[in-house]
Amino acid sequence: MEIIIQPTAEAATAIAARLMGKLIREKPAAVLGLATGSTPESLYGHLVGQKLDWSRITTFNLDEYVGISPQHPQSYHSFMWEKLFRHVNIAIKNVNIPDGLANNIPASCETYEKKIAAAGGIDIQLLGIGTNGHIGFNEQTSSLASRTRIKTLTPQTRKDNARFFGSEEAVPHHVITMGIGTILEARQCLLLAFGKKKARAIAEAVEGPISSMSPASALQQHPRVTLCIDEEAASELKLSEYYRWVYDNKPGWQKV
Ligand code: F6R
Repeated sequence: MEIIIQPTAEAATAIAARLMGKLIREKPAAVLGLATGSTPESLYGHLVGQKLDWSRITTFNLDEYVGISPQHPQSYHSFMWEKLFRHVNIAIKNVNIPDGLANNIPASCETYEKKIAAAGGIDIQLLGIGTNGHIGFNEQTSSLASRTRIKTLTPQTRKDNARFFGSEEAVPHHVITMGIGTILEARQCLLLAFGKKKARAIAEAVEGPISSMSPASALQQHPRVTLCIDEEAASELKLSEYYRWVYDNKPGWQKV
């Protein structure tokens, strides 16, 4: 794992945006795995500002709430159109987000997996992390080999996401999420985390044992993972000085 620690969320976001922008310029038909939530909001703003050509880009979002329509203001469909898609020249047919209203959820999840494979797999998977270490909505004790499927949110995640819905009761219990196995098949993963409330989850993911109690720890088995995090999210890492030195002394050809 490459751990990039920056003084602020904004500085960490700027690096992640450069990395994604570079990929889009170098591979105009890239397949992007995208995330929602508060963490990547500013990243999408940066990408819009880079004036990239999205006409041949394909996207797959990590997750969606079950039982709310795409038009619902808190659906991840709404989020993605609001924060990114409506500002760039992406083709609607190339946008993929799990269908929270599917009649047959298992069949729709299988189709989602097939579509990812048919697109040639995901070039870069953007990730946030839950305070409990989830990636996508793969909550603690999710199988590390899991595929796209329905999941039940933990009380902690529903509490964390109550800020978007106005109350905890309004947060759906069920979601569709790419599995950890699905995420690990992306050719590169880029995880962003900001703030003190993510510090424990980051320390467990990076320096703890690989365990389904820390779903993000599964990323230790992926050959190409970059974390862009701020000081606060890095505050419980034991080897933070080492990670800083590594980043500050990268050979020129490795720099983005
Ligand atoms: C969202 C997702 C989740 C979030 C995580 C952190 O698509 O997959 O794993 O990344 O819940 O959410 P925020 O960024 O709101 O703290």
